[in-house]
Amino acid sequence: IKTIGILTSGGDAPGMNAAIRAVVRTAINKGLKVKGIQKGYNGLINEEIIDMDKRSVADIIQRGGTILYTARCMEFMTPEGQKKGAEVCKKHGIDGIVVIGGDGSFRGAQKLAEAGVNTIGLPGTIDLDIACTDYTIGFDTAINTAMEAIDKIRDTSTSHERCSIIEVMGRNAGYIALWCGIANGAEDILLPERYDNDEQALINHIIEARKRGKKHHLIINAEGIGHSTGMARRIEAATGIETRATILGYMQRGGSPTCKDRVYASVMGAYAVDLLCEGKSNRLVAYKDGKFVDFDIDEALAMTKDIDEYEFNISALLSK
Ligand code: F6P
Repeated sequence: IKTIGILTSGGDAPGMNAAIRAVVRTAINKGLKVKGIQKGYNGLINEEIIDMDKRSVADIIQRGGTILYTARCMEFMTPEGQKKGAEVCKKHGIDGIVVIGGDGSFRGAQKLAEAGVNTIGLPGTIDLDIACTDYTIGFDTAINTAMEAIDKIRDTSTSHERCSIIEVMGRNAGYIALWCGIANGAEDILLPERYDNDEQALINHIIEARKRGKKHHLIINAEGIGHSTGMARRIEAATGIETRATILGYMQRGGSPTCKDRVYASVMGAYAVDLLCEGKSNRLVAYKDGKFVDFDIDEALAMTKDIDEYEFNISALLSK
């Protein structure tokens, strides 16, 4: 391996810059050249490629977003797009590539590996929805950002003795909702993995909690369930309790990464370069059972994971 490329793909996540910095500096320290591929696989296909040196990643460890920009690329899902991407790598002398993103991005990485470009994936998504790893870059910052916002909503919700539904991101996964639900002491947490659409049970719970003297009722609703505004309207009509919905949205994806996201992303970035230097390809860096490890991308994509039953059960008990 002489020259590596690095790209960020899919939704951005705080800590991606820390990972880019670690990849660039580790690679240069090992005598490799580094090319930054902008705007994900789109930029690869369109050859939006820049040379990177140690200074090009200065002053970014504390910044949210990704200095390489990111995109979701439909063309790279096609065999033609993948072929083009591999050809561009050859043309620019890129013999190894680090892809920071989610499952969709790793499917692209797999194809590049098949075409002979050594690829290593880093899990970068606020959703924590990558099965082989207990940690993804950006999750810690996102839950802290959401938690702080929900604390603020809780203040006003209590003052007005309201019910508040707060919708958090996570695509089809409920990890952000579960963590915020526990951290914010929510009365109800609606997760796509668990919610059975029994709105009447939810309404009964709100009425019963009010009878027990609760001044507010916080419901954390995962994006995978959605429909928070309509749900608020129906709850208010059924309970007579003023109910408001807040959709936190993209603020959860921005902001300066937490210490954990900076440190873990830095370690993962360095680890990815080490794997490339060992001649490895089609691997995904993960954090599993307290250790940084790596998995074959094919095996990683076939894995599944679920919400922790114990955590989910205690979340309901603790807010009683
Ligand atoms: O994967 C991160 C995420 O923010 C999800 O939580 C959300 O469903 C999605 O991206 C939104 O994607 P977009 O930026 O394309 O609207």
